[in-house]
Amino acid sequence: MSFSPTTDYELYLRVPELLSLQKSPSERACPDELLFQVVHQAAELWMKLVDHEMQQVGARLSADQLADALKTLRRIHSVLALLGQSLETLYSLTPADYMRIREVLGRGSGQESPGFKRMMAVPGEVYPHFEALLDRRKVTLIELYRQPSLHADLFQVAEALVDYDLRLQEWRNRHILLVYRTIGVGTPSLKGKHSELLERGLRQQFFPKLWQVRDDLYGEWSAAHPSGAGYALTGTVQPEPESPAAPPPARAPKPPKRRAK
Ligand code: HEM
Repeated sequence: MSFSPTTDYELYLRVPELLSLQKSPSERACPDELLFQVVHQAAELWMKLVDHEMQQVGARLSADQLADALKTLRRIHSVLALLGQSLETLYSLTPADYMRIREVLGRGSGQESPGFKRMMAVPGEVYPHFEALLDRRKVTLIELYRQPSLHADLFQVAEALVDYDLRLQEWRNRHILLVYRTIGVGTPSLKGKHSELLERGLRQQFFPKLWQVRDDLYGEWSAAHPSGAGYALTGTVQPEPESPAAPPPARAPKPPKRRAK
């Protein structure tokens, strides 16, 4: 197929090629298939960007450029938020139209998304750069979390990595709700019961050591404060005095009587 851009804008952005990547009206299973294709195609582009930016984060951590790494992580957070918001456009897709699209999707599944696979893999490639940085600064993870202000820049990066995890799981949460809304909770999908499969994904951790350190810190604290372990009250907090019998609920004022015309 030949594409003939007419302006520099179209030439630079390769607009004709881009707009040829969606089915023509006569090819669509239903008019809403355009929405379905656009949301998925745009998501692949944003996920490609997340992968690229995460690799930048790794390189910046290696070069001890923490401020730049943090700036990039914040950019990534906003892309992840945008990916979550884009799901909302599909709330308006009816179950019946989704079924029409499903018929032409073949055995295609979101699990095969190359962008999503990269977003799940890239944290494992970035974390070693963070660990090497901790080594260079001669601080362990638990020491960093015990006294964040001693290494404020490192701590901010660690927390921004946790936010990557968090936002990706926020996307998964919203996606599950979209799936339930569109095809229900119990419907079996191509690979078994989708609710079980997707809920399993919600328990995944992309930076497990940054989650574990919270448990470790709490473990230390509860060992040092045995009476406080398990969030039991230590006696310094007094229970609230019993409140007197609640007054009867106020009655809503009666609407004014209408005069019959
Ligand atoms: C009406 C809209 C949607 C429906 C009904 C839907 C349905 C599903 C279902 C049933 C699964 C489980 C795996 C399977 O059985 O194929 C799944 C997984 C997935 N979908 Fe969607 N999806 C929708 C929109 C989207 C969008 C817009 C994206 C954006 C890229 C997306 C990306 C994914 C990904 C990445 C997975 C794997 C998730 C994981 O492993 O946690 N889906 N989807």
